[in-house]
Amino acid sequence: MRVGMLTGGGDCPGLNAVIRAIVRKGVGEYGDELVGFLDGWRGLIENRAEPLTVERMRGTLPRGGTIIGTSRTNPYKVDGGVEACRATLAAQGVDALIAIGGEDTLGVANKLHAEGVQVVGVPKTIDNDLSATEVTFGFHTAVQIATDAIDRLHTTAESHDRVMVVEVMGRHAGWIATYAGIAGGATEILIPEEEFDIEVVCEKIRQRHAAGRYASIVVVAEGAQPKAGTLVTQSGELDAFGHVRLGGIANAIAQEIEGRTGFETRVTILGHIQRGGTPTAFDRVLSTRFGIGAIDAVHDGAFGQMVALRCDEIVRVPLSEAVGTLKTVDPHLYHGVAEVFFG
Ligand code: F6P
Repeated sequence: MRVGMLTGGGDCPGLNAVIRAIVRKGVGEYGDELVGFLDGWRGLIENRAEPLTVERMRGTLPRGGTIIGTSRTNPYKVDGGVEACRATLAAQGVDALIAIGGEDTLGVANKLHAEGVQVVGVPKTIDNDLSATEVTFGFHTAVQIATDAIDRLHTTAESHDRVMVVEVMGRHAGWIATYAGIAGGATEILIPEEEFDIEVVCEKIRQRHAAGRYASIVVVAEGAQPKAGTLVTQSGELDAFGHVRLGGIANAIAQEIEGRTGFETRVTILGHIQRGGTPTAFDRVLSTRFGIGAIDAVHDGAFGQMVALRCDEIVRVPLSEAVGTLKTVDPHLYHGVAEVFFG
């Protein structure tokens, strides 16, 4: 078979490990020819592709990012975009397409499948907010990076007796904030799922500092939501899928904390550092398993399906299910575990 693949949306560590696994099993066991479309759906629209061979994939397992590039291009928002995708698949003689991406990329894959394109999906997002799979690759690496940063911030915060506000990624779901906050011993964790009251946050910090010389670490997800009317946060431009560009809520929070408590406060926005660099061993293994699962699904004719991790097994779920609901942070984890250590 001739199998195409693309990576869409924000990059994350582990993408190359998925591609490598597809290529290795595709070539080695199925005798496939593999082709990578460059820069996500944009490469399919513009017919830009490169052959992916076993040799091409050498050395890519530990490498972050994606060797075939990515973008947030949405073919359904480009004039003639969907027709162009179909024309490219025909011109390239591609029998099946593997789309590796998050909610947006898989949403496009799902629509194309409904229109007759033979597609298999692989879930990717460091935000870990896809409900059809227990975990996505990239998340574990992002949590480790954020935890390492929090560990480092503890010592400088303690030396200066300061409040440190650390902003991590997490647009709709606060998985990175919750995991890194628990692992890093945060004083407070603010996530999109739980509206926060800045005065309550400040009071916890006051009490902590009243008990002695004691620094505080506040971990905030970029999409955290203040109670209506309590805090003005930044708003930004929209991408092709209609998402506001986030980043910067930590500045508003830090300003309020310093103003209300009088404690010196500093901000660290981890941003894209969380998405860069080498994947953890866990993510390399998960990505490899997803890649193998995807090429097997292609050869079983399981189109319109996505590979997922459930109870440590790689299973297939309909793409429609994969893009249906967001997986938000379990309230038991937030209130029953993380919150025990607040203040
Ligand atoms: O891929 C998800 C994500 O990492 C979000 O957490 C974040 O808001 C967004 O991507 C950032 O996107 P970009 O790389 O386009 O700035």
